[in-house]
Amino acid sequence: MSEHILEVEHVTKEFPGVRALDDVSFSVRRGEVHCLCGENGAGKSTLVGVISGIYAKGEYDGTVLFKGEQAQFRSIRDSEKQGLTVIHQELALSPYLSIYENIFMGHRRHRFGIIRWDDLLIASRPFLKRVGLDENPETIVSKMGVGKQQLVEIARALSKQTELLILDEPTSSLNDDESEKLLQLILELKKEGMSCIMISHKLNEVLEVADSITVLRDGRSICTYDTHTQQVTKAMIIKGMVGRDLTSMYPEKTASIGPTVCTVRDWTVYHPEYHQMKVVDQASFDVRKGEIIAFCGPMGAGRTELMMSLFGKSYGSSCSGEMTLHGKKLELRSPHEAIERGIGYVSEDRKELGLILIQTVRDNISNSSLRKLSRLGVMDTYREISEAEKYRESLKIKTPTIMQLVRNLSGGNQQKVVLSRCLLADPEIFIVDEPTRGIDVGAKYEIYTILNQLASEGKSIIMVTSELPEALGMADRIYVMNEGRIKGVLDRQEATQEQIMHMALS
Ligand SMILES: Nc1ncnc2c1ncn2[C@@H]1O[C@H](COP(=O)(O)OP(=O)(O)OP(=O)(O)O)[C@@H](O)[C@H]1O
Ligand SMILES: [Mg+2]
Repeated sequence: MSEHILEVEHVTKEFPGVRALDDVSFSVRRGEVHCLCGENGAGKSTLVGVISGIYAKGEYDGTVLFKGEQAQFRSIRDSEKQGLTVIHQELALSPYLSIYENIFMGHRRHRFGIIRWDDLLIASRPFLKRVGLDENPETIVSKMGVGKQQLVEIARALSKQTELLILDEPTSSLNDDESEKLLQLILELKKEGMSCIMISHKLNEVLEVADSITVLRDGRSICTYDTHTQQVTKAMIIKGMVGRDLTSMYPEKTASIGPTVCTVRDWTVYHPEYHQMKVVDQASFDVRKGEIIAFCGPMGAGRTELMMSLFGKSYGSSCSGEMTLHGKKLELRSPHEAIERGIGYVSEDRKELGLILIQTVRDNISNSSLRKLSRLGVMDTYREISEAEKYRESLKIKTPTIMQLVRNLSGGNQQKVVLSRCLLADPEIFIVDEPTRGIDVGAKYEIYTILNQLASEGKSIIMVTSELPEALGMADRIYVMNEGRIKGVLDRQEATQEQIMHMALS
């Protein structure tokens, strides 16, 4: 039996205009956790596609050996049958099916052609127990948070006797607690002999679980570190990823803070379906000119719901309370009105609210600013192109041209397109919800620099973030939310991670 469960040799994969993988070689030992790191667009997800049969043999050059034999996967189903399961960057469960239906989907056991649902329901329990998910197997998955959905995906992988589990950014939408649980689960599965490839931009996590780390840059495999024989540091990984040292994580903020621009008082929002349920309860806060404020709190605290309801009532069945801009009352009935009045919102969920995937980068950037880009009602195409090019350059969006369809961009680069669109609309109040989710360390720094620059221009920034270091590194004040309420506010100077967590639970 070969020592390696997977060997990738000289793999090259091209898309029109892009060489996504360029002579990549690396191998995964049996029973190890092997992490892949690299900037947005470095080729990580493409590599997963090659390994797992999303791109069939013949669609790439080079060889992939799985369990010592040449992999001839024609599809992802093929690779699953052989014991290789992928959990993708965007979750792939059927939202309207139950937990157990999702677990056994595609490999329903049946007797004489009849599916015995009761059997499946019972059969799902040990897998749920294994991943530590304490839920009724009949629960519909869309009713659960992303963290739990992730666990269902892993339960599904376990039910299929997976030998190599591949996780593409599994913790990017999880909070700290959920992430930690998932990492522990990965380590346990490893003890039982499972091999694992994990992709992550969170280098702390990588260092916590990895036996080996392979760094990709511009489609090439730069180096592999063995964490047992070398003292691997974050700085070493970053240097491999971006090709230079990165000394600080957060740029310095120099904006001076002016008078209050926007106030929110007693803002209360009810759930869109369960009309009696308060999701946000009497939230009040202010933001000043040139100020960055952050909203922290656990998943489900109501942060996104608060922001979306402020942004032209795009969430909730009914809202009450008062919002003012420059001392005047604001009544916003739609996101369109919010944009017209100078409020911009960058959503945390780029698929559902953010982007039109089948449109080009250029169209996606310009489509909140059509009026601004038009003259006498006619679109100024020249200006549209030059604005899109400007953002492509300043945010380093990795795409061969601005005419590329957004769905062909890597996850992190899609996020940059959402951000560009909001920047172009030039709002006075800029609400950014998890602005750096799935963004690599280098690009994070660029996004922080842009936010600071907006503050220097006198804009106000409201940031929702699950990453406490990000809030501490960027915000002038931090509002802490939990269970729909604002529990308190901390100044930058006095705030610590412990205090924020303590306040959330108080
Ligand atoms: N279907 C496609 N058509 C054209 N180009 C593509 C396609 N899929 C990926 N690419 C390009 O290949 C390159 C690598 O993308 P990939 O998704 O593998 O990056 P990644 O390392 O996973 O990045 P991220 O961290 O942002 O998820 C990118 O330049 C991307 O735009
Ligand atoms: Mg990716």
